[in-house]
Amino acid sequence: MTAQPEQLTPYERMGGAPFFADLVHRFYEGVAQDAPLRALYPEEDLGPAEDRLRMFLEQYWGGPTTYQQRRGHPRLRMRHVPYLIDDAQRDRWLAHMADGLSYAAQRHDLDPELYDQFWHYLVSAAHALVNSAPSP
Ligand code: HEM
Repeated sequence: MTAQPEQLTPYERMGGAPFFADLVHRFYEGVAQDAPLRALYPEEDLGPAEDRLRMFLEQYWGGPTTYQQRRGHPRLRMRHVPYLIDDAQRDRWLAHMADGLSYAAQRHDLDPELYDQFWHYLVSAAHALVNSAPSP
């Protein structure tokens, strides 16, 4: 029996693992080219950071809970304390996410309502993680 759309999780309705893989991979391609933002990421290889963000987003939207199993409670605010995030860095981060989301949305024919939900979540989460005022 085929599941009705309302029985599916947002994760499934978005396209499952391939949707999240495309989104986050495209995002990190942008980060890699963005010197000021890239400077925040401590590891030379962005691959592990890509995996963490992908697992987190999958879990948030009702997919596998691998993030929790490997990393524990997300505590995002605390985990971002080591990185100075001002409004400008937040906006750079969001610009690459906008690019990643549009890219994955096109490839997976994302429902516009889910697109809006995803985008609003990212904007509000990113605003909540700003932890530094711009330098004078
Ligand atoms: C506001 C702009 C943001 C900046 C500049 C930023 C930057 C960073 C940096 C530098 C890391 C460390 C890379 C790593 O080792 O994984 C990181 C980790 C992470 N970020 Fe962000 N981030 C931002 C917003 C967000 C938002 C809005 C979310 C969630 C919606 C998020 C989710 C994560 C996750 C899940 C990790 C890995 C945490 C862990 O398990 O260690 N970030 N971020």
